Parts: sequence; C-alpha cells; structure tokens
Amino acid sequence: MKSDKLLLPIDPCHADTPWLWIGTWSMGGEGFGNHDEQESLEVLALAAANNIRHFDTAGFYARGTSEKLLQKIIKKDRQEFFISSKGGLVWNGKSVEHRASPMDLKNQLFQSLERLKTDYLDLYQLHWPDPDVPADASIGALREFQKEGLIRFWGVGNLTEQEVTDHLRDEKDIPHQVHFNPIHRNDAVLAAGKDFCFNTVISPLEQGLLGTGKSSFGKGGIGKKDFRNRNPYFSNPEVHSWNSSLNCLLKQHSLSKVSLILMWICAQPHVHAIIPGPRRVDQLNDILTFKSEVERNNLLNSGETDSILSADKLRGRIPEEIWQHLSGRPDINID
Ligand SMILES: NC(=O)c1ccc[n+]([C@@H]2O[C@H](COP(=O)([O-])OP(=O)(O)OC[C@H]3O[C@@H](n4cnc5c(N)ncnc54)[C@H](OP(=O)(O)O)[C@@H]3O)[C@@H](O)[C@H]2O)c1
Repeated sequence: MKSDKLLLPIDPCHADTPWLWIGTWSMGGEGFGNHDEQESLEVLALAAANNIRHFDTAGFYARGTSEKLLQKIIKKDRQEFFISSKGGLVWNGKSVEHRASPMDLKNQLFQSLERLKTDYLDLYQLHWPDPDVPADASIGALREFQKEGLIRFWGVGNLTEQEVTDHLRDEKDIPHQVHFNPIHRNDAVLAAGKDFCFNTVISPLEQGLLGTGKSSFGKGGIGKKDFRNRNPYFSNPEVHSWNSSLNCLLKQHSLSKVSLILMWICAQPHVHAIIPGPRRVDQLNDILTFKSEVERNNLLNSGETDSILSADKLRGRIPEEIWQHLSGRPDINID
C-alpha cells in the first residue's frame, strides 16, 4: 500500500488514516442545497476527533467560504493538520474560469493563506490544467512556491492520461486528484500515474448520487441552484437504473451502500487515498463506520499490490454479484 511510504509526512499530524481525507467543497454552502454551517463545523471537528487530519479545500469552493470554515477548525493546532488547497479555477460572476498563470496562481495562493490564516499550506495543487497556460508553466510556479516555503508539497488535478505522462514522468509520488467511482471510471489515468503519482480519488460518491439516499435531493429533486444540475449523471436513465439495481442487491447485505462503494474504490489498483465530501454528521458517521470496518477487519493492504485495501480479503466479504455490479459500469460514456 502506497500510503505506508507516504510522500506526505503525517508527522507531526497524528492522523492514523493518511489514505482517508475529508473534502470541504459541499460544506461551503453554495450549490449543494440546504446548508447548515454549524453542522459543517461539527463534521470537521468530529473527523479530527477521529484522527482524520487530512482536509482538502480550494479557493474556488463556495468562493472561499470552505477555506474560511476550515480555518475555524485548524486555528488552535495548525500543525496537527494536513491542509491541501488548490488554485487555477476561479469564479467570474456565475461562470467558472481557468486562471493558472504563475502570477494568477501566486495571487490565489496568497488569498488562500489569508482565508486559512496560516503562513504555509501542506499541499497546493493545480485544480485543473488551464487551456491557455502550458501546464509546465503552472507546475513551475508551484515548484517556486515550494522553494519559497509557502507550501510543503505541490500537486495536480484532473490531468488526462497523456498529461500525466507528459508532465510528471520524471516525478515521484506527486498528488493527483482523479475523479473516479463505479460510474465514472478513470482506470487509465490512475494507471498512467502508478509510478509518478499519489492518486487521490475525488467525488467517490459522484456528488451524492451514490450516497445514502437520504440526501437533500432525494425527496423533492435537486433545487434549481444546485450545481448537480450540471452533472449529466444525475439525469441519466441508465445510471439511475444501475443505481436502483444496486440498491436492490444491497437490501440483503449488512454493510451500508457508502461502505461498500468506498471499499470497492479503495481496492482498485493505483488508488492511494480517497476524499469523500460529507456535509452532515450522519454522512460523516457513515464514513467513520467504513473506517472502523476497514480497521476492525484488517482490510488494509499490507503491501502486496498497489491499492489501499486488499481486494482478496474484500471479495471474501462482499457477495460476488454485488462486486460484479460495482465493477460493471453502466453502458454510458460521460466525461
Ligand atoms: N480537484 C477537483 O477538481 C475536485 C472535484 C470534485 C471534488 N474534489 C474534492 O473531493 C471532495 C469530495 O467530492 P464531492 O464533494 O463531490 O464528494 P462525494 O463524496 O462524491 O459527494 C458528497 C455528497 O454526497 C452526499 N452524501 C450522501 N451520503 C453521504 C455520505 N454518507 N458521505 C458523504 N457524502 C454523502 C452529500 O450530498 P447530499 O447532502 O446532497 O446528499 C455530499 O455533499 C470535495 O469536497 C473536494 O475536496 C476535487
């Protein structure tokens, strides 16, 4: 398991799960339905109390509000936390724009440091490559920030298979945020980074489409301002049919849907960490149950293959038809 020789030293952070991070996008209160800031703070505090110390955020998330929220949690013991943020994607009114020139990234980094009230980030990532800026120029800026001591590590997000090879082939263990889950497979990108990247999986529950079913959009549908209206999976009939079949299969099983999906993801080759984004305490509790099931049943990979969990141990615990269903992506191709 790659997290054992993690590039991201967790000392002095006392995390026992460098493979499980918590994402703060949906906690910022914009675009994910009803929002309760106090509950989001409880989620972060409860995660920290359960030894999860790696938190992912971005200046882009809720226009800086997610970072401000995280600041309230890290302010007393900054060094106990591993804070990852990102630059290169900004809001311009209601539009999203790429801005990843060296100067833009530097300005965004300083804004993040200010919102987080810290003088360094543990990790700063290029959120998305900017079509108008060569990726090597953006990455060059990140290297400079590292030399200046503003960030401990640099990373990237949403690179294609080709971009991973082109820009990272001389690197080792560079954090790369990869969108991956049973309906959005990105196996080739994960594999492309196997020798150069520390692959962190984002949107493991496809923004809640694969969540508990008790979600804010479960009863009356998602609201007009909800970002998930832009996610084509939410309106795809084949995905809904696949999801309903999964729900039926799971009725017979004692593990929760969230645990099963996260376990399946963690057993896939070249997945090195996952970043779910719970925004309510009951949702975090699902994640904590998953974490304790992994620990209690000793499911962590002890090094034989490049994945977080041992697929062999898992397949003994999960009925084959559920495993096959999770592995058999619906016949659609949305990128
Ligand atoms: N680099 C990038 O481009 C990028 C892109 C996306 C995400 N990310 C990172 O990855 C993190 C996770 O992505 P995501 O927010 O799309 O996460 P996700 O974990 O796929 O979905 C989170 C949503 O799922 C729903 N949910 C239902 N049950 C849940 C449960 N038990 N646990 C967690 N969530 C549950 C919640 O929505 P309801 O309350 O509405 O049900 C929640 O807002 C982000 O916070 C961010 O840090 C990075």
